[in-house]
Amino acid sequence: MRLGLRALALTSLVTCLACSGQRAPTPSPASAPSPVAVGAPTGKYGEVKGVELVPGGVASFELQGKVERAALSQVTVESQPFERALRLEIKERSGNPWDVQLRLPVARAVQAGDVLLATIYLKAEPGHGDAAARTEFVMELGREPWSKSVSYPMRAGAEWQKVHVRYTAQRSYAPGEAQLLFRLGYEPQTLLIGGVSVENFGQKLALSDLPTTKLSYPGMQADAAWRSAAAARIDQLRKQDLAVLVQDRNGNAVAGADVVVHQTKQAFGFGSAVVAQKLTRPGNEQYKQLTAELFNTAVFENNLKWQPLAGDWGEGWTVDVALKGVDWLAQHGIQARGHVLVWPSWKNLPRALKGLEKDPAKLRAAVNAHITELAGATRGKLVHWDVLNEPFDNHDLMDLLGEDVMVEWFRAARGADPSAKLFINDYAILAGGPGTTPHRDNYERVIQLLLDKGAPLDAIGIQGHFDAGLTGPEDVLELLDRYAKFGKPIWITEYDVDIDDEALAAKFTRDFYTAAFSHPAVQGIIMWGFWDGAHWHRNAPLYREDWSLKPAGQAYRDLVLRELRTDVSGKTDARGAYKTRAFLGSYALTVSVAGARKTVPLELANGSKPAVIKLD
Ligand code: G3I
Repeated sequence: MRLGLRALALTSLVTCLACSGQRAPTPSPASAPSPVAVGAPTGKYGEVKGVELVPGGVASFELQGKVERAALSQVTVESQPFERALRLEIKERSGNPWDVQLRLPVARAVQAGDVLLATIYLKAEPGHGDAAARTEFVMELGREPWSKSVSYPMRAGAEWQKVHVRYTAQRSYAPGEAQLLFRLGYEPQTLLIGGVSVENFGQKLALSDLPTTKLSYPGMQADAAWRSAAAARIDQLRKQDLAVLVQDRNGNAVAGADVVVHQTKQAFGFGSAVVAQKLTRPGNEQYKQLTAELFNTAVFENNLKWQPLAGDWGEGWTVDVALKGVDWLAQHGIQARGHVLVWPSWKNLPRALKGLEKDPAKLRAAVNAHITELAGATRGKLVHWDVLNEPFDNHDLMDLLGEDVMVEWFRAARGADPSAKLFINDYAILAGGPGTTPHRDNYERVIQLLLDKGAPLDAIGIQGHFDAGLTGPEDVLELLDRYAKFGKPIWITEYDVDIDDEALAAKFTRDFYTAAFSHPAVQGIIMWGFWDGAHWHRNAPLYREDWSLKPAGQAYRDLVLRELRTDVSGKTDARGAYKTRAFLGSYALTVSVAGARKTVPLELANGSKPAVIKLD
């Protein structure tokens, strides 16, 4: 976790010290019980009055940016500690959260180090289907370089919920220099914001004297009903009876033989995004050792993308580097998946391709040639290819060439490498709370289109980047059901949980992995990097930059390396038989008696027969 530029988790409460990294926990999404405003508000909080920076209440905020994308109105509110709220109907998606926002310049001076408390009431109105409307509360300098003191993403639920955001001013602001914002540049939604107050306590209180809102997610509680159902599915789906019969050279049963059952590989995919250069160049010993220890699958975060391979990112991004990475993975028993053949927006395609924008025939040919060349160069080496990435907001090529071109891409990939399973891949499918959203609808539509048109689509990738919206396990399972109806395997392709409450990230990681592992359609879970030193948000699930293990890292090790693997031993009975319930995968079985000893491999799959082991 970056110090100084991110919210620091103090004990179990979160306090935003300098949030230009802008990640802080958020209240739970729609279907969760509203977050409890907990924290350690000392009596002093009640005694000391702060200076109110929003004297006019929420009505004093004004809409700013691409205002045509939002309809602003005032509504009266009953049985809440405020009578009026702003209703924001966001009608059109934005590329940036700041494209549309509510803004209020801060008329008073704020000194660096001042302790402030924002109190905000939020409610989502069912409208555009986004059941968990979202916003981000920001206090920043109202000009370059927009120095922030707080940036706090939050999600609204179906009921009014109070959110406390405590923070420290990261710099001094003269009267009028600071601005308070509610960012609204997200997916279409209808959001109510009421009861806004921002109190400046100066140095009269410590941050910990103030209340804060603890994050939670539905199903987090230890006795949640989903847990036993998941455990039952895991036993039924992911385990089989493993039976061993030990005989002597004449085929007679050997009773009392010692049997050790050691799982060497899980059938289920547990993986991470990795950087080929870190695996293949000298150094990075911990990175290499942990990659080999923790994962049986890996994907290159960037090494097989078209933009770097085209030279747009400078030196060192070549297919040869990627192939060396594939070899390293193979030498360590790790299967490699390819990411990504076509990420069809100009911002994610090679710069040079834009020059073909006016020549559809050449553009189409260039994309097909890229697929054929790259998938040909890795032929037989990758278990998967993400053929098409994030079609919801990456569709410049489809806009120019028609949506059927996506079918051509899958066909070209199949022709170039018949051995790789071909995936579509997208984000915001599981993240962002429950319910239907335009992003989820579009994913369903594109998958159906590909299948209807005969595209060789083998599997569905669902990324799993969580931050402001922790989706509870039951909602995750329901969303997985929605895409499992296509009858294709699902992989979680890019899991991470970008919040600053490390204890909560550990709980969520354990629950998310357990729920996904329990779903019949899911065949693997890949995290999007495992170490802060090589992570797009510098907030990876497992290890901090100094290689210290995060609580979520411990949760992963306990679950994946211990609880979801089988390492047991016992003795054969009078019939020379030993049986246990074991996770599907590869095993080394060692049997020994009276000095004789033998180790044999075993693949445990559905329907496996007993292993007969003869001791000479
Ligand atoms: O390292 C080069 C640098 O030498 C060069 O000067 C510079 C020029 O722009 O580029 C640098 O490469 C950067 C690269 O990451 C390696 O650090 C690129 O700028 C930067 O755009 C690239 O960002 C990657 C991003 O995808 C865009 O490709 C992130 O690392 C990567 O984590 C992110 O991953 C995506 C998945 O592919 C799809 N799903 C979402 C996920 C997160 O955005």
